[in-house]
Amino acid sequence: MTDLADLASVGRDTRRGGYSRHGFDSVELELRTWFEEEAGRRGLDVERDRNGNLWAWWGAPGPDAVITGSHLDSVPGGGAFDGPLGVVSALQAVDLLQAKGFRPAKPFAIVVFVEEEGGRFGVACLGSRLLSGAITPEAACRLTDADGVSFGEAARAAGYDPALMGRDPVALQRIGRFVELHVEQGRGLEVPVGVASSILAHGRWRFSFRGEGNHAGATLIEDRRDPMIPAAQLVVAARRAATAGARATVGRLVPNPGGTNVIASSVDVWLDARAGDDARTREVVAEITGAARSAAADEGCAVEVTEESYGDTVHFDPALRDELAGVLGGVPALPTGAGHDAGILAAHVPTAMLFVRNPTGVSHAPEEYSSPEDCAAGVVALASTLEHLAR
Ligand code: GLV
Ligand code: MN
Ligand code: MN
Repeated sequence: MTDLADLASVGRDTRRGGYSRHGFDSVELELRTWFEEEAGRRGLDVERDRNGNLWAWWGAPGPDAVITGSHLDSVPGGGAFDGPLGVVSALQAVDLLQAKGFRPAKPFAIVVFVEEEGGRFGVACLGSRLLSGAITPEAACRLTDADGVSFGEAARAAGYDPALMGRDPVALQRIGRFVELHVEQGRGLEVPVGVASSILAHGRWRFSFRGEGNHAGATLIEDRRDPMIPAAQLVVAARRAATAGARATVGRLVPNPGGTNVIASSVDVWLDARAGDDARTREVVAEITGAARSAAADEGCAVEVTEESYGDTVHFDPALRDELAGVLGGVPALPTGAGHDAGILAAHVPTAMLFVRNPTGVSHAPEEYSSPEDCAAGVVALASTLEHLAR
């Protein structure tokens, strides 16, 4: 039987533990091939759309389709469940439905979205953003990874034509309902399965501080213009600004050139900020930006601030949410602070998410976990959901 354990050896991160699987890298391509084979074994026909997403159709593609799925990429050193659980559970749900002789009356597919985490190219949910027009193909294809390879180049190397990328009304309009099963990522779920109610507003901002590179020993403190100083103050300002349920994180800070005995010439800092609504998120970011600008000025450094991506609060379709909670016997609805392709699609089609309990409350880290029993409950819940929607 197909299982998450089948993927256990693919893309191990040797530094942090967990997995590093990024859009169109060799590991993610291996997982795509695995998915195509698994789909084929079930008699599903795999279609590669023009934006790098895979659709495995059970029967003919068509309008009012029931779509489930998730992503196979991870954050650097991420857990085993975020993304792959939704894909593996979808395959297992099809197994359950096929075993009982169910045939969907509606078009039905499992989708795998490319680069959901933005772990390689910096913008999350690239596949669903491209599909829905939330990012232009020009902007997406310009994004580069740490080695300077652009998303366009990586897509081309994987067999996709960047010139054909962009909003795909045909693929979008045929989605009748989208349901993404996902590991729960906080401490919010106390029963095996729940449904999602909302996603925090969230975005990513890059702060580029420029100062004067110099010698760590020979340069007097009063002579320095060290961009690491405002960068460090930004980190602290982020923690201070994130009050009353808001979240602000600096998980990535890159000094140039990065040497122990070198005052950096520049430092890039990425801020991830999230809050309950647009106004509060903007307020938090404005406070952090103000602190960063003033710290840069104090140190004689320049700073440039770029909003790299942003999405307002998502409220999942309340009718679909309640319908599915009912089908699943009254499971709880809970909000999440994590972003998802489902959140991007929710602006266009009725969308829902099923969450599977994660007793560790840890995600985006190797300790992320759902028990085999809860994963099995997730598959049963997803199968019931899909059967309900596709009949
Ligand atoms: C993706 O999982 C995110 O919330 O950033
Ligand atoms: Mn994630
Ligand atoms: Mn995910």
